[in-house]
Amino acid sequence: MDFYHKPVLLDEVISYLAIKPGGVYVDCTVGGGGHSEAILNIDPDIQLIGIDQDAIALSAAQKRLQPYSERIKFVHSNFSQLINVLHTV
Ligand SMILES: C[S@@+](CC[C@H](N)C(=O)[O-])C[C@H]1O[C@@H](n2cnc3c(N)ncnc32)[C@H](O)[C@@H]1O
Repeated sequence: MDFYHKPVLLDEVISYLAIKPGGVYVDCTVGGGGHSEAILNIDPDIQLIGIDQDAIALSAAQKRLQPYSERIKFVHSNFSQLINVLHTV
């Protein structure tokens, strides 16, 4: 089953996040990867951790974000486990 998700309020999310070059960001609901892609596109030194509890969504995000694979770590988990995830990546 193909997973596709159009990122909602993308411009608003990016403007309110006030992304810093070289920053490290966590997308706790990476889904299809749309918001993460926009964050990674802002600066070539940005690193990102993409979390999702849905394995199908995660593999869709991995496919979409393959060009950024050097700068992104994917974690199949519930964001309620965020602290543990951040200790392991
Ligand atoms: C609306 S989609 C996110 C779309 C994503 N921002 C994009 O641009 O494609 C929400 C995602 O959050 C994931 N999700 C919802 N609750 C979660 C939780 N507690 N922990 C981890 N992932 C969760 C769902 O599996 C789904 O893939």
